[in-house]
Amino acid sequence: MDAAASRPAVVIDNGTGYTKMGFAGNVEPCFIIPTVVAVNESFLNQSKGSGKGNWQAQHSAGVMADLDFFIGEEALARSRSSSTYNLSYPIHHGQVDNWDAMERFWQQCIFNYLRCDPEDHYFLLTESPLTAPENREYTGEIMFETFNVPGLYIAVQPVLALAAGYTTSKCEMTGVVVDIGDGATHVVPVADGYVIGSSIKSIPIAGKDVTLFIQQLMRERGEHIPPEDSFEVARKVKETYCYTSSDIVKEFNKHDKEPSKYIKQWRGIKPKTGAPYSCDIGYERFLGPEVFFNPEIYSSEFTTSLPAVIDKCIQSAPIDTRRALYKNIVLSGGSTMFKDFHRRLQRDLKKIVDTRVLASDARLGGEVKSQPVEVNVVSHPIQRYAVWFGGSVLSSTPEFYAACHTKAEYEEYGASICRTNPVFKGMY
Ligand SMILES: Nc1ncnc2c1ncn2[C@@H]1O[C@H](COP(=O)(O)OP(=O)(O)OP(=O)(O)O)[C@@H](O)[C@H]1O
Ligand SMILES: [Mg+2]
Repeated sequence: MDAAASRPAVVIDNGTGYTKMGFAGNVEPCFIIPTVVAVNESFLNQSKGSGKGNWQAQHSAGVMADLDFFIGEEALARSRSSSTYNLSYPIHHGQVDNWDAMERFWQQCIFNYLRCDPEDHYFLLTESPLTAPENREYTGEIMFETFNVPGLYIAVQPVLALAAGYTTSKCEMTGVVVDIGDGATHVVPVADGYVIGSSIKSIPIAGKDVTLFIQQLMRERGEHIPPEDSFEVARKVKETYCYTSSDIVKEFNKHDKEPSKYIKQWRGIKPKTGAPYSCDIGYERFLGPEVFFNPEIYSSEFTTSLPAVIDKCIQSAPIDTRRALYKNIVLSGGSTMFKDFHRRLQRDLKKIVDTRVLASDARLGGEVKSQPVEVNVVSHPIQRYAVWFGGSVLSSTPEFYAACHTKAEYEEYGASICRTNPVFKGMY
């Protein structure tokens, strides 16, 4: 066994909105930072504009641009305070679409945040379930060639989320993962650790949409929030005050009867003048999360509710897996953290299933009665970063090191080996 295999693996879950990073075997990621890079554009412009003859200036401007960049909160702060930094978000809807920025991002994750030598650790990275195999090759190239890692495994995010249940109960590798992050919502059925690819469903509504919806509601009501701050305020309002109601009509009534109990206050400081301001937080507390259950209140283009999408997903999976899938619906991602989210999801899904069972029993003339279908939505405290935690658990098993692609294999066979990553026994 090589020395690197005796050190904890580095586990990085790059999300559209946030990156979770840390070491195998830990319960929590060491850092959760926004997936964003700020690059000093003035160097790049300088290197473009300095003319043909001046290659030295061009070169050093390029080197400076390579050094002068920030990631995460620091990147956001730089771009706020100075116009020379330009932000780029390397991942959109779960897919990397700017590899240059992604490489810079990983560089700082490894050297400035985790502060480790990548040559000394195996790496576990994650990808969305709909990632094209070519993207895994790019990731492999960067990891093996730029960072010289000794071993790499690219895991599918929802499979890791299922594996997160490993230590909390007996590990059940059959289930449906409902992963709602910032930029993407995926409903992914998994049977014995294998994703049932043809039944994956995506929904174009995720955490960022909830934030945008709250921002819009507050703006329409005429709350006085400085425009440059309004998205961030909406996000914080969402994360702090939103909850899932069981019935919005009742909820409106409750708010109207006892406003003092339900209306919250937001206090902030105007970034430009430093003057304090305050505003009300009202119906958006329950209307935000409602977009998953009644999407038509937010979008006229997508109107199928999350419970209906989960039901469609399971109904399209092989018939002998369906009961087990309804029984283990696992939540993952920051946008499943709304209070009582799992309760509402379980209730609405159960309604859909029961209605179908009743209808089919009625068609059969009431002589045979179907077995009731058990619907179970599982919620646990680490679900906010279930994907990362599942990665941490799996990459601390000996099987992980055997399942990794190694540097030697990469050199012998090339990047195409990264296209497939075997499901390994440590998962059960
Ligand atoms: N307590 C909370 N309540 C509601 N939403 C939350 C809470 N905490 C975080 N979020 C939201 O969760 C989202 C981030 O979740 P997560 O880290 O799972 O996404 P991601 O992995 O970056 O994105 P994706 O999986 O779409 O690529 C953000 O929209 C954030 O505002
Ligand atoms: Mg994610």
